[in-house]
Amino acid sequence: MNSLNVQRLRKDFPILKKKVNGHNLIYFDSAATSQKPKQVIDGIKYFYENLNSNPLRSIHYLAERATEAYSDARDKVAKFINAAPEEIVFVRNTTEAINLLSFALPLAKDDIVATTYLEHHSNLLPWFNLRNKGVMVEIVDVDKNMDLDLSYYEDMSEKTKLVTLSHESNVSGTINDAKKISRIAHKKGAMVLVDAAQSVPHLPVDVKELDVDFLAFSGHKMLGPFGIGVLYVRKSISNQLSNFLSGGEMIKSVRLNDVVYADLPNRFEAGTQNIEGAYGLGLAIDYLNAIGMRNVEKYGHALALELFEKMGQIKGLEIYGGKSRNFGAIAAFNVKGLHSHDVAYFLDKKGIAIRSGFHCAQPFVEDKLRVNGACRASLYLYNTSHEIDTFCGELKKIVNTYGRG
Ligand SMILES: Cc1ncc(COP(=O)(O)O)c(C=O)c1O
Repeated sequence: MNSLNVQRLRKDFPILKKKVNGHNLIYFDSAATSQKPKQVIDGIKYFYENLNSNPLRSIHYLAERATEAYSDARDKVAKFINAAPEEIVFVRNTTEAINLLSFALPLAKDDIVATTYLEHHSNLLPWFNLRNKGVMVEIVDVDKNMDLDLSYYEDMSEKTKLVTLSHESNVSGTINDAKKISRIAHKKGAMVLVDAAQSVPHLPVDVKELDVDFLAFSGHKMLGPFGIGVLYVRKSISNQLSNFLSGGEMIKSVRLNDVVYADLPNRFEAGTQNIEGAYGLGLAIDYLNAIGMRNVEKYGHALALELFEKMGQIKGLEIYGGKSRNFGAIAAFNVKGLHSHDVAYFLDKKGIAIRSGFHCAQPFVEDKLRVNGACRASLYLYNTSHEIDTFCGELKKIVNTYGRG
C-alpha cells in the first residue's frame, strides 16, 4: 500500500487526532461524508478574511476577487473531470443535481427512465415523482454478486429517454461499467446520467471517456465543504433542458414581457451561490491532484482488498460486498444475531465510526440483501492497515460476546 504516504497525509486532517470515548478515532464513515484537510479548513477562513463579497454583481475590488475565486473553482472542477468550465453547474449536492435534472429534462407521459436497484434514494425518488405525469420508472436488477444486469440495456425499449445509474454503489461498493452502459444507451437513443457521488472522490473520472450526458457529485464526500455539489451538463444538449429555479443571475435581460435567459451554466445557478463552498471544493481538488487520482484509486483498491480479506476471516459475519467485478472500499455487513445499530453502538464505544441502517437505499437493502439494515464500513485515503486490524479485532470481540455465528 505505498501509492501514497498515508502517515504524512494523516497529519493534514486535524480531526484524526481526536479521541472518541477514550480511543483514537477510527473514521470508517467516509461514504457518508469525508473528513477535511487543514488546507480546505484554513482556505475557507482565508476566503472570508480576504475575498468575501457577492460575485458577478458589483465591480468593486472584493467583488472581482470573489468572482475570480468562483470562476477559478469552476475551472478546477471542469479540469478534474475533463469537462469545459461552462458545463459545470454548481448546486448544493448530488441530491439537488439529480432533482434539478428531473425538473429540467423534457420527460413526458409514457417515456421511460431506467434507474437501478443499486441506487441511493436520491437517484430513485426524483424519478418516482415523475410518475404523476405518466413517466414510467424501470429498475435494472442486479445479480448475486451485485453486478447490474447489462442485458436490460441491450433489450431496453426505445421509449427509454434516460438511463441513470450510480457509478459506485454506496452500499455494495459495486463500481459499474458506466462507459459500456452509456455506449449501449446512446445507441438506443437514451440520455445518460451518472450519479458519481461515490466515484469522483475515489477514482479518476473523465466525462469524455465515459461519454455521459450528465454527472452529479457532492463536494463534502471528496474532502470539500458541505453545501456544494456539481452537475455536469454536456453542452451540446443543454438547450433541451428547461429552467429549474428562476431569479437573479440566470438571465441576460428582463423586461416585463420579455425575458432572455443566460447560457449554461448561469441559467441553472439562480440566486447567490455558495461561493465559499466552491472555493473550498477547488482547494479539495488541489489536494487530491497533488496526490494524484491514480494513486488515490490504487490505495483505495488495496484498502478494499485488505478490508474484505480480513473481515472474511471473522466467523459470524455476513458480508454483502466485495464480490462484484469491480468494487471500492465500502463493506456492508451484519453480525449474525445482532441489529446493525447495536453493532455500530458497540464500535462507537471503541472510537470506531461506521454507519448502520438502510444507507438511504432501502429497496436495495430490503429486497436484495434481504435484511432490515446493515452496518457499513467505508474507507478513504487517510485510513490505514492498522485501523483495519483494530476494527476487525473489535468486530471479533462483538461476534464472540453477542453474536450467534
Ligand atoms: C451514491 C450516492 N448518491 C447520492 C448521494 C446523496 O449525496 P448528497 O447527500 O450529498 O446529496 C449519496 C450520499 O451518500 C450517495 O452515496
